[in-house]
Amino acid sequence: MCGIVAYLGDRQAYPILIKGLHRLEYRGYDSSGIAIINGNLNLYKRKGKVSELEAFVEGKDVSGTIGIAHTRWATHGQPNDENAHPHFSQNKELSIIHNGIIENYNSLKEELMKRGHIFDSETDTEVLIHLIEDVQKNETLELSEAVRVALNQVVGAYAIVVISQNDNQRLIAAKKGSPLVIGIGENEFLIASDATPIIEYTRKVIYLEDEEMAILERGKEPEIKSISNIVRTPYIHELTMNLDSIEKGGYEHFMLKEIFEQPHSISESMRGRLRPGEGIISLGGITQYKNKIKNAKRIVMIACGTSWHAALVGEYLFEELTRIPVEVEYASEFRYRNPIITEDDVVIAISQSGETADTLAAIKLAKEKGALILGICNVVGSSIPRETHAGSYTHAGPEIGVASTKAFTSQVTLLTMMALMLAHEKGTISDSHHQQLITELSNIPTKIEAVLKTAPLVKEIAEKYKNSRNALYLGRGINFPVALEGALKLKEISYIHAEGYPAAEMKHGPIALIDEEMPVVVIAPKKGNYDKVVSNIQEVKARKGKIIAVVTEGDTEVRNMADHVIEIPDTEELLVPLIATIPLQLLSYYIAIMRGCNVDQPRNLAKSVTVE
Ligand code: M6R
Repeated sequence: MCGIVAYLGDRQAYPILIKGLHRLEYRGYDSSGIAIINGNLNLYKRKGKVSELEAFVEGKDVSGTIGIAHTRWATHGQPNDENAHPHFSQNKELSIIHNGIIENYNSLKEELMKRGHIFDSETDTEVLIHLIEDVQKNETLELSEAVRVALNQVVGAYAIVVISQNDNQRLIAAKKGSPLVIGIGENEFLIASDATPIIEYTRKVIYLEDEEMAILERGKEPEIKSISNIVRTPYIHELTMNLDSIEKGGYEHFMLKEIFEQPHSISESMRGRLRPGEGIISLGGITQYKNKIKNAKRIVMIACGTSWHAALVGEYLFEELTRIPVEVEYASEFRYRNPIITEDDVVIAISQSGETADTLAAIKLAKEKGALILGICNVVGSSIPRETHAGSYTHAGPEIGVASTKAFTSQVTLLTMMALMLAHEKGTISDSHHQQLITELSNIPTKIEAVLKTAPLVKEIAEKYKNSRNALYLGRGINFPVALEGALKLKEISYIHAEGYPAAEMKHGPIALIDEEMPVVVIAPKKGNYDKVVSNIQEVKARKGKIIAVVTEGDTEVRNMADHVIEIPDTEELLVPLIATIPLQLLSYYIAIMRGCNVDQPRNLAKSVTVE
């Protein structure tokens, strides 16, 4: 987590840095800060959101054409002014911003204290900038060399930018494990945790690799080398994202915009890949490994949070269509339990950000054991796609709201296409069923447009339950993960305790919670185990629970039992999650808004979880 941004060029740095911080605020919002060189190194930082920093610097000197800025998600030390970044070195001539964790900071700190260093904060980052100053002085090195030498003593993850009061010509950046993008404009450089603060100024970017550093000097080409001092030739990428995709576009919140974007984001996930007219699905990113995947003895899916829920939907899809056994693992558990993985396994890692530390570590572990690793990620150029053997981007566009919405439906779309393509290759699906599913998948964006029209009704339902203290979400089969996802959405943005259960499991415990106060959201499409779900609804009603049911258009049976129904268009059973998720996202959104919660930046959370 944490967002970093830096600027060096002909313009005033402050407005660019502040705008960049706003764009990166989704990565953490415990505190923020800025350091700009204008003769002096002026450093300002504040607990709280970027807007609080802006208020704090009003009337102060923020002029200068080189600077660094940071928005923090606290790891070491409380969210307060002292622990906010940037940090000064001992002599206050150097300053640093950092995203990541320096694991051996304690031992480094002890050594530095013995040498007279005094620390103002509890952070690992301050230790690093003191170390850089210490190395620079003791070995009389120029700054970039001191950074390089210091980084060789560091264990952990970092994306850093260092500036010196004595040098307003250069930014020094380095990366290992945390993301860092360098934008190259006309006589200017920008550095950021992702491309969103950069896109307004240039489309040309360099993605630093792990253990690489960049020396960016006015009027010169960027110099890239490894921290073991090997010069690298940078590859300059062209960004394809547009500015509209990272702005609210008239919506009150990013989350609402992203919910309403889903017809488009799903279409983008399918564009050029799903060709219903020809009965073809073509996923270029994994073609090379098609045979290996379809003949895999087992597929293991690894992910966290919402992406883990997408993996659970993937399990149903792959097992049903390809008949390959699938196991779904929390990346954070997988990596610490000596998992049994062999060269015959195919691992699919799913991540919106492509930066989730646990998923990344799980990938590395599975790779060491010889498995083929595929990635399903949204953020182009992020760490996971670069760590995997092959994969497919979801192309959902930037997701800024911390609560994942359109990324989930795009991940499920990708998994559906993958499963269908492999099943067809493998012969585990008939031509006609394959065609039927492809055609129906291509209709999903239009069906979601219809579901989005239920927003006013969902808002009315939200009004009735906005003060609930608990909620249950129930679904069966492929809709069980939808229930889990609905519950996660509600708890993370409205802070109402919510649990998702397979509907039939309710009677093994959770039923004890049901009373007239308890809203129970049931995904009850007229498919599969519909009759069983109807029985589960009756069990809830018998205990006076309140039923909010997501049903297929025209359903009368559940309508007669439920307190509220939200209708969704009929579709193939395997595709219901793509549609049924939408009203649950809307319900969470409206409840959270009515409770006065900050839906785009829920408390204690960050969008990219780059720490374990
Ligand atoms: O970027 P990733 O998909 O790897 O992120 C995984 C989770 O951190 C993420 O899905 C999280 O659970 C969201 N806040 C859910 O809305």
